[in-house]
Amino acid sequence: MLQGRRVLLIISGGIAAYKSLELIRRLRDRGAAVRCVMTAAAAQFVTPLSVAALSEDKVYTDLFSLTDESEMGHIRLSREADLVVVAPASADLMGRMAAGMADDLAATVLLASDKPVLIAPAMNAMMWAHPATQANVATLAARGVRQVGPNAGDLACGEIGSGRMAEPLEIVAAIEQSLAPDRRLAGKRALVTSGPTREAIDPVRYLSNHSSGKQGHAIAAALAALGADTILVSGPTQEATPPGVALVAIESAAEMLVAAEAHLPVDVAVMAAAVADWRVETVADQKLKKNGKGPPLLRLAENPDILATLAARRNDRPRLVVGFAAETENVVANAQAKRRRKGCDWILANDVSAGTGTFGGDSNTIHLVDAHGVEDWPAMTKQAVAARLADRIAAALHGAE
Ligand code: C5P
Repeated sequence: MLQGRRVLLIISGGIAAYKSLELIRRLRDRGAAVRCVMTAAAAQFVTPLSVAALSEDKVYTDLFSLTDESEMGHIRLSREADLVVVAPASADLMGRMAAGMADDLAATVLLASDKPVLIAPAMNAMMWAHPATQANVATLAARGVRQVGPNAGDLACGEIGSGRMAEPLEIVAAIEQSLAPDRRLAGKRALVTSGPTREAIDPVRYLSNHSSGKQGHAIAAALAALGADTILVSGPTQEATPPGVALVAIESAAEMLVAAEAHLPVDVAVMAAAVADWRVETVADQKLKKNGKGPPLLRLAENPDILATLAARRNDRPRLVVGFAAETENVVANAQAKRRRKGCDWILANDVSAGTGTFGGDSNTIHLVDAHGVEDWPAMTKQAVAARLADRIAAALHGAE
């Protein structure tokens, strides 16, 4: 069922466009809302009126339509969909997608989209087999664009070969699969630490740091979204507890360690908290007072290293232990050394030197260091870092590496 799901269907030029009318009906039957964009060539094969009638919605064709822009805007067109489907996907439109062009409404919407994209290619067999088309298909696949078809068979041009658009029901099945929730971590247990710790000086004062908890909370959210049973042990933050995540609120590093150990065994532990390295050795029972003898001397004691402690557990070590390294210089070399020192499997290293805006900011540039080497990730939002990490964790726990 596709009840309540919103599909943006982009119809490009090709004889297979007649099958898109059937596709719209099938999607509507299953409860999906279908909004359509047509290229100029598509309108030569099927009329916008038929498409509008079947989708029971306005059809969008023109990048420069003032009415459409004021009512909807081409950016919102894709943002308001759960999935973008290109059927038929002509060789021309796939080429423009691969090249990142925005020379008509369809291409512009695709370039501006942050939604999953599914293409159903349809063309002459020679066009499909051409190295240019195949290179474009490979480029799109590498960017995560999904594909259904083409099938082999009789083609409208009279030739026989591969290039027939997938049948409407096959496309519907691919759409249902694309929209099905990804539950790769169902049945797995995840432990995430997040936020700062607070180390008491006396009943009203503490030592802490500027950690916002944004990255750790986003990781817990991403793991839970993939179905993991997720425990988030966090110091005080302004972040909301993500849906499906069990929060254990703590203050000090000592409390964080107790809470983390209490939730073992887990399959994966991600230590994203900015744990204070030191605590005040003797916490005053009463509020320290100015006594005329000058400021008090605070003697510090080392805090337990939660990451290293979990990584060193004998019988219940998490299968995958992931730490962070906030560095201001020699980011990767320091992270590699830290990985070995702490005994964890992966370190996500990031540069937090002044001007990077990582601490408390919304984006992060990560280098994933493991036993095999380093993977440099581009700058991305903390949510995107979390999603990519969760994806890597799901692959690792399923033995893909
Ligand atoms: O040694 P450093 O603080 O740079 O290490 C950072 C990594 O170690 C992070 O993953 C952090 O959550 C973890 N850590 C910890 N317990 C500490 C200090 C750091 O779990 N006491």
